[in-house]
Amino acid sequence: MVKLVVSSILNLALSLVLGQAWALNPISIKGTKFFDSVTQDQFFIKGVAYQPRSLAAGFTDPLSKPADCKRDFPLMKDLGLNTIRVYQVDPSLKHDDCMKALEDAGIYLILDLMVPKHSIVRNNPEYDINIWNNVRSTIDAFEGYSNTLGFFVGNEVTNDNKTTVASGYVKAMLRDTKNYIASTSSRKIPVGYANNDDPDIRLQIQSYFNCGKDEERIDFFGINLYEWCGASTTYNTSGYAERTKDIASYSIPVFLSEFGCNSVTPRTFPEVKSIFGPDMTDNWSGGVVYEWSQEDNNYGLVQVKPDNTISLMPDYTNLKTTLSLLHPTGVKMSAFKETRPISTCPAITPTWEPSEKLAPTPSSAACDCMMSSLNCVASDQAVATTESLGTLLNTVCGMTSCDDISSNGKTGVYGKYSFCSPAQKLSYMYNAYYTNIGKKAAATCNFNGMAKLQVAAKSSDQGCSSAKDTPNLDSKTGMSNAGDQAKSDSFMVALAVLLGVSVLAI
Ligand SMILES: *[C@@H]1O[C@H](CO)[C@@H](O)[C@H](O)[C@H]1NC(C)=O
Ligand SMILES: *[C@@H]1O[C@H](CO)[C@@H](O)[C@H](O)[C@H]1NC(C)=O
Ligand SMILES: *[C@@H]1O[C@H](CO)[C@@H](O)[C@H](O)[C@H]1NC(C)=O
Repeated sequence: MVKLVVSSILNLALSLVLGQAWALNPISIKGTKFFDSVTQDQFFIKGVAYQPRSLAAGFTDPLSKPADCKRDFPLMKDLGLNTIRVYQVDPSLKHDDCMKALEDAGIYLILDLMVPKHSIVRNNPEYDINIWNNVRSTIDAFEGYSNTLGFFVGNEVTNDNKTTVASGYVKAMLRDTKNYIASTSSRKIPVGYANNDDPDIRLQIQSYFNCGKDEERIDFFGINLYEWCGASTTYNTSGYAERTKDIASYSIPVFLSEFGCNSVTPRTFPEVKSIFGPDMTDNWSGGVVYEWSQEDNNYGLVQVKPDNTISLMPDYTNLKTTLSLLHPTGVKMSAFKETRPISTCPAITPTWEPSEKLAPTPSSAACDCMMSSLNCVASDQAVATTESLGTLLNTVCGMTSCDDISSNGKTGVYGKYSFCSPAQKLSYMYNAYYTNIGKKAAATCNFNGMAKLQVAAKSSDQGCSSAKDTPNLDSKTGMSNAGDQAKSDSFMVALAVLLGVSVLAI
């Protein structure tokens, strides 16, 4: 506590002296609600999903396009919004300009950490080093911004009663994400999960991500809810009242991580009166309307024209009119005392299968160490054909045991290299086959050109599987660390001395 207060006073003084622009106050969580950590006002998410896309460009990172950000964010502010939800970014690109434009509009960011290219796949779930490295880089790229409200660790991963094992892998990633933020960020950035609304499993998912050890539980929960369609529906008849009962004793903040059924258009958003009015503000923290730009699926608030300018659609105006009538204030953080117990883990049944034993933390160090012990590895040709790695693996796994590289989230059995990349796993298996079977039968390390010999740097992989990665503490970006971190650190120390504060307390 003392540490926090001292360092925020110092940050304040630092930004005053350096003349930095004011950052948005971080949002924090107390019990079931979000609060502005400085004003102590309750924070209701008035959000929009933001992922403009084009068929031609495919995957794009909307926070890497300053001109588009500067075009869109003031219009969101004008609409009365305070949050965007972004599903996909490329952590290697620059985000300072868009995050500054977002801050200038008074808007916070909730960012999804899994992207299609690096994700836990619901029907064949695995949690490997490629996924984890991308998650780590994304956290590195965004944790420095004070208007990063939170991260989603998954979105609708399990979406029916046959894909529940995938949730165990998501929970493993949640554990690692929370640990990583705790060891690399100066601020406790909350991590949540966004659920679909499948009646068969929604309650299990809700409980599952809020049960068990602290480090394996989400900090907030999102529900993608499309049950309220059109103005002839009401809070009671839409299903919204039922969903409110579902979460009415939940212990952490809940909001609609997507809403806005479009089976009746243009949308007049009658549900918004409930979301930000007496029906729901006691138990919900707002919602994220789906979505900003008009795309093939017809949910847009605005149309991006071929010349890259914007035209407002009727949904934009309708939402603005409705929102302008609603000003939920909630409670002050200091006055809010209610705490509720965490959830009980759902029973394991044929339709809720994830093992209590979670997958291990993927480790580059372990996989690299293992690779350096191999004599026979996947050839460049095999590695280049990413999409056929699975087929090549299946072939070699038909010839010898693949236990070391396999994982089973239902039984909770994870091979020692089950988190390595597909190419590393293939190398491990070629080497295993070559060493244990092939060489004895005078076969070569070739596998139809898919394998090649290498000179192993280590004589065995002993000890490799327990090698751990250390977080990269030098790669932080973001407004709050703008400029040279070393310089500001020494400035903080000087300031602390000036103020007579013990430097040890920082
Ligand atoms: C599983 O989901 C299917 C499809 O929704 C449903 O028909 C079935 O009853 C569910 N099974 C159980 C045991 O809940
Ligand atoms: C909605 O349902 C509740 C509880 O069943 C009832 O008390 C309330 O009057 C209903 N509201 C409307 C507008 O029908
Ligand atoms: C919502 O929350 C309030 C206050 O915590 C509570 O009194 C109320 O019964 C809750 N449930 C529903 C269904 O609105």
